[in-house]
Amino acid sequence: MIANTLIAQSEFIGRRESFFAKMPINSLALFAAGKEVTRSNDTEFPFCQNKNFYYLTGFNEPDALLVLVKGNEKQEAILFCREKDPLQEVWHGRRIGPELAQTEFGFDQCFTLAERDALLPQYLEGKAELHYCHGVDAALDQQVLVWLSVVKSQAKQGKTAPTNIVDCAPVVHEMRLLKSDAELDIMRQANRISGAAHQRAMEKTAIGKFEYQIEAELLHEFARNGARHPAYASIVAGGDNANILHYTDNGDTLKDNELLLIDAGGELAGYAADITRTFPVNGRFSEEQKHIYQLVLQAQEVAINAIKPGATFAELNAAVCEVLTGGLLELGILSGDFKQLIAEKACKKYFIHGLGHWLGLDVHDVGDYQIDEERQQRRKFEPGMVMTIEPGLYIPLTDTQVDEKWRGIGVRIEDNILVTEQGFENLTVNVPKSIEEIEALMANS
Ligand code: GLY
Ligand code: MN
Ligand code: MN
Repeated sequence: MIANTLIAQSEFIGRRESFFAKMPINSLALFAAGKEVTRSNDTEFPFCQNKNFYYLTGFNEPDALLVLVKGNEKQEAILFCREKDPLQEVWHGRRIGPELAQTEFGFDQCFTLAERDALLPQYLEGKAELHYCHGVDAALDQQVLVWLSVVKSQAKQGKTAPTNIVDCAPVVHEMRLLKSDAELDIMRQANRISGAAHQRAMEKTAIGKFEYQIEAELLHEFARNGARHPAYASIVAGGDNANILHYTDNGDTLKDNELLLIDAGGELAGYAADITRTFPVNGRFSEEQKHIYQLVLQAQEVAINAIKPGATFAELNAAVCEVLTGGLLELGILSGDFKQLIAEKACKKYFIHGLGHWLGLDVHDVGDYQIDEERQQRRKFEPGMVMTIEPGLYIPLTDTQVDEKWRGIGVRIEDNILVTEQGFENLTVNVPKSIEEIEALMANS
């Protein structure tokens, strides 16, 4: 495979056109590819492309640089990438090289990285504005200053460098927030693969196994379906480990009468799934586990069913807090006056994270939440946005303020939801979620 075959080249070109349309005349924009990161000595972590760069190019090699030049009459998309090198390619893998990159990825011009430092000052010369996501790559930040100073050093020859440097990340982030049909197809597929992995994990769970053995089942199912890497480190948390939100040690054994919380998703063609399920290790929920699970599920359903264009995370969060507060009162985990508890945000003692987040090329995807002075997320949902909805309740073993029977229970349920014209589409379709569905699946495996 050379070019990205899941999203057409024309879509990447269209994204660059949209970005060009937002650039002022006589400006230049730079987007840098990711770098390989050393794991140890001469081995590297699996390469992960910079997501803004990927969004605008579909090009998946490290070290490349996209330059968008907008002049008075014409605009050009230029790529700098690694040159072809038979010796390097024998050792480290094929490179596309500038010639093929130009035809396969639809750039106006392509050059090798070796040509970058000579050409960039020429492109910058005479431009009024430089649009650049600074603060991501310190070495490139320095190099940009060098290119600018090269131009400035030629002031006596009448050459001028951009006087404004504008952070262009927000512009791309707003574009990324609204998914295209092609992106949504990939995200549906990433969810189907990740859902199958969660099902497999439920089927393979048994008392005495290690958490990492269940992690291996997830990774197996992701990879064999083309999601070669997890979108983030899988959380496989038995019992009280579920009360550590970003638990990734995954090294304990699974015990009878405990729950297992799994938060895991595969990355497909760059796009993340982010799914959580919580289920009993022995296949049957205890009474206490049922109460907490059912309450989280009810809260999640209330939030999901409220999703439609114009709704906000702030509204969903208020509805979820009402459900959780009412339920915790009934169970005797909270006590006092309902309205007072709502005003005090008392449920946040047990629901200790946000309700959800944007999802896309990044698992915590980009895009402004429009947070107001009360820290409420007021952004109105629009068709094409994808988010997670993931309420949870966490009662650690160390919480001596609640009856002992509740301690050590941690439950989160997380689905991936697309906003549609009519309301919503739940992308997380093939993972058991009700108590009956989970117990039935585990009874038969
Ligand atoms: N898996 C990270 C999260 O749910 O936000
Ligand atoms: Mn998650
Ligand atoms: Mn999430």
